[in-house]
Amino acid sequence: MRVAFPDAWLDELIAKNDIVSVVSSYVELKPKGRRLWGLCPLHGEKTASFSVSPDKQMFYCFGCHAGGTVIQFVMQMERLSFVEAVQLLAQRAGMTLPENTDDAALQRERAYKERLYEACKQAARFYMQTFLGEEGLPGRQYLAQRGISAEAVKRFGIGFAQEGWDHLKNHLLAQGFTEQELLDAGLLVRNPQKGSVYDAYRGRVIFPIVGVNGRVLGFGARVMNDDKPKYINTGDTPIYNKRNNLYGLHLQKGRRVEDLVIVEGYTDVIGLYEAGVTNAVASLGTALTIQQARLLKRYVSRVYIAYDGDAAGQNATIRGLDILTGEGLDVRVIVFPDAMDPDEFIRNRGKDAFDALKDEALSLNAFKLESMARDYDLSEENGRERYAIAACAFISGLQPVEQGRYFNRLSQKTGYPVDALISQAKTGKVPRERPPYRPNGTWNNIREAQTIEETARTRAESTLLHTMLQSRGATLKAVEQGAAELFSVQAYQKFAAEIIAAYAQETEPNCARMMSAMPPEEAEIIAAVLGKDLPGDDPEKVVSDCIRRIRRIETEAELERLGVQLADSTKTVQQKQEIMLEIQRLNRELRG
Ligand code: UTP
Ligand code: MN
Repeated sequence: MRVAFPDAWLDELIAKNDIVSVVSSYVELKPKGRRLWGLCPLHGEKTASFSVSPDKQMFYCFGCHAGGTVIQFVMQMERLSFVEAVQLLAQRAGMTLPENTDDAALQRERAYKERLYEACKQAARFYMQTFLGEEGLPGRQYLAQRGISAEAVKRFGIGFAQEGWDHLKNHLLAQGFTEQELLDAGLLVRNPQKGSVYDAYRGRVIFPIVGVNGRVLGFGARVMNDDKPKYINTGDTPIYNKRNNLYGLHLQKGRRVEDLVIVEGYTDVIGLYEAGVTNAVASLGTALTIQQARLLKRYVSRVYIAYDGDAAGQNATIRGLDILTGEGLDVRVIVFPDAMDPDEFIRNRGKDAFDALKDEALSLNAFKLESMARDYDLSEENGRERYAIAACAFISGLQPVEQGRYFNRLSQKTGYPVDALISQAKTGKVPRERPPYRPNGTWNNIREAQTIEETARTRAESTLLHTMLQSRGATLKAVEQGAAELFSVQAYQKFAAEIIAAYAQETEPNCARMMSAMPPEEAEIIAAVLGKDLPGDDPEKVVSDCIRRIRRIETEAELERLGVQLADSTKTVQQKQEIMLEIQRLNRELRG
């Protein structure tokens, strides 16, 4: 859903965030011609194909075809949604977000959330200070014994809540927070019987949970022995909802990662990080949600599920698979031996062993077949047979090219010859539904920019659109000739409508603002148009030429269609005559 900002306010936002200065804070730009050039920060490259046009306030990369306004740039660089990017740019320019001034309730809510953010930040700071001070010794000893380094403590902001009921409470009340604010942030709890209010976390190691906006939202607190519960986590608060966050994701900001590894726990992220696997995030023991899948999709198109090797972890993996593939992510599964979790595995076996497991990660279907096997006792003839039948039914629902691979694997596992399995699959029941699957060869790491197929027609449409944007006279001329309904590319059609509307109101089209309201896929298509150079001719002549070319292409296509009809033997003589006449008319049109 797109939140609408007032046009005038967006105009100001774009004007105050000059794209050259925003982009320059990420990459060095050098002027050449009418543009500035640099190495594309959105894809890896050695020669500069990333360009910024100061006059159009747009960027376009000739390598990866990403492009758009300053807003789309920030969305992609910072992995933000449209609204979040707008918020960030507003902050940068010192602008306040537009709101109904009479909507006082909304304002109050926003201010209140700010208080909760601040309380969490101060709490995290307090826990870290405690960790490093005299009272923090048990926490330091515990982490040392687990092999978590001082560097990791710093990177993850790990802290310590000492034993006692009101250390944090007193500290934060003295800073001016109210008891209610601290309760709402989940930092204090109220005893339902006695009504007393005290620190939520006591005698535990503290793992702050940081949102993608870089702010502390909540905490996980671990006991240092085998007491239960092992972790206490911040519940739902006005600023934190575990369904919408992934632990460790904020560390990926500003980095270019090929894929992300999803683990279950805090210590998995930390353990992997210390071993050099810095792209792990944790779902914190809960089932993955669609919101989390969408967050992941902002960063990568491929993810690895690396849940604990125990049964609980494997079952959670199966649920996660469907959520992730349902959101269009390419998913692979890393399976750890001996019920280990990623932290234990990498500490025992090292990074190379982890990388090797990752290389061998199972595709979705391979994993499903493997986990299906766990329902049968393969040491018995009967179990092998029943597994083979079930597996064949599953395989028969896959793409034919894939099937071969699985038949081989299944043959090894069950001892049945491949031929027998193939015939079994042919007779077997077809599974209820075909699992969502994309062939293995086509994993793509980074989201590909949207491009449209270059044909004579789309080239003409692109030039037409670009020229219309440049000139009011050309636009009016184009409208006269029916340009408004001429575009076959939907994004062009929409953008043309905006240009026509702007000139109809006697205003210059503000192309950056018009684009800022478009989804990134469409903005990229338009940015590609604006990234090209225009023929230097008279714009009115250019639009007329383009329109003529497009019409000609349409006519030729129509002629081809009629030619096919003419060859159709079911047509009557009468019908064929009409077709002939139409063909003659169109041919005249083409010559004329
Ligand atoms: P695990 O039991 O696998 O813990 O739970 P862990 O992450 O490996 O932790 P260590 O290494 O023993 O310290 C995985 C995740 O499930 C959530 C936590 O987010 C934990 O990281 N969990 C687990 C809880 O919230 N509460 C619990 O009592 C246990
Ligand atoms: Mn674990």
